[in-house]
Amino acid sequence: MDVHNVELVMSAVAPAQYPTDGIPEIALSGRSNVGKSSLINTLINRKSYARTSSQPGKTQTLNFYNVEQELFFVDVPGYGYAKVSKTERAKWGQMIETYLAERTTLRGVISLVDARHEPTKLDVQMVDFLHYYDIPVLVVATKSDKISRGKWNQHESIIRRSLSLTPEDDFVLFSAQDKSGKEEIWQWIEKHAGL
Ligand code: GTP
Ligand code: MG
Repeated sequence: MDVHNVELVMSAVAPAQYPTDGIPEIALSGRSNVGKSSLINTLINRKSYARTSSQPGKTQTLNFYNVEQELFFVDVPGYGYAKVSKTERAKWGQMIETYLAERTTLRGVISLVDARHEPTKLDVQMVDFLHYYDIPVLVVATKSDKISRGKWNQHESIIRRSLSLTPEDDFVLFSAQDKSGKEEIWQWIEKHAGL
């Protein structure tokens, strides 16, 4: 999609606040600092529209970005930030579960992991959850610029195995720095959002 107009229309914590436009939605999830906002910025050709919080783990809301009135990107607050209290973590879990399980306009989730490392337990849980609810998932391994191309296949195999991905599960290596993987990710989004 050729993106010119993007608008952050809502920061929601409960279903009553979700937009009611009825247009398709693609959510982005992943641990804090994995690169969710950077991926959104790359997809919409902006440097810093979706902001990096200076306080990781403090963003507690689902941020709905309206893209060309055709699609929402939903930036899901990152998980796995150590300094978050148990109560806050439980609240986070509830909010995400409600959103993912009940949102009828959700067409798919881009689940981000760090290309350099083995997925964490929480990464595995997230993908299991999406499989359980039959939500189409694209695993995007971020920061691919930090590993040499010769090692990409090896890293992909490790990530696919740790997340128990099937051959039907889509996987893309991505870098916000050199934009590699961007077109493949857009193709997946357009296919699943029916654009
Ligand atoms: P939270 O909002 O805290 O959950 O983080 P986030 O997942 O939105 O991560 P964000 O996009 O803010 O990126 C975190 C840091 O990683 C920033 O310093 C980015 O510049 C850096 N980063 C993100 N993507 C890439 C990438 O592809 N390559 C490199 N080298 N750095 C990246
Ligand atoms: Mg972010």
